[in-house]
Amino acid sequence: MYNNWEDLEKSIVDCKKCKLCKTRRNIVFGSGNKQAKVMFIGEGPGADEDMQGIPFVGKGGKLMNMALEGLGIKREELYIANIVKCRPPNNRVPEKDEASACLNYLRNQVMLIKPEIIVLLGNTALKNILDEEYKITALRGKWIEKNGIKYMPTWHPAALLRDEVKKIEFWNDLKEVKKYIK
Ligand code: URA
Repeated sequence: MYNNWEDLEKSIVDCKKCKLCKTRRNIVFGSGNKQAKVMFIGEGPGADEDMQGIPFVGKGGKLMNMALEGLGIKREELYIANIVKCRPPNNRVPEKDEASACLNYLRNQVMLIKPEIIVLLGNTALKNILDEEYKITALRGKWIEKNGIKYMPTWHPAALLRDEVKKIEFWNDLKEVKKYIK
């Protein structure tokens, strides 16, 4: 674990800890406020993120941005990262070895940010951060407290694209989170 961002960022620049390094264009390290009270964790970069090196800039990300804006939450207030920092081919779910190879970077980011709240976007984030047995369908919208951090599991933004009910649930979950920001 590194106790400063510079060393952590340097350590990842040429990461070859898993096979995703062979197909990635850019490492998507994470973006936002390094003193954020709230951190968002997604699954892994898609095509747009892989091109730009920034998390959640594609279709799902735009939808998430709209929800954040609607609730008066600025992306700059948050820190956003993913379970894996390199794009899984064809946007498949990251495999176990890929997630475990990458998780220490994320843990290091959490250690440096010290967020009060972590929003877990979808099953992959929920399972890798809290418990392999957890399911987003059962736990979304419910606060889970662990080691002094409050977790809010919610839908992954990509799941909202064609589902109006999930959009409303996502909105309500973020509204819960907003209570703690302001
Ligand atoms: N999906 C994710 O899980 N993360 C991103 O950064 C983009 C899409």
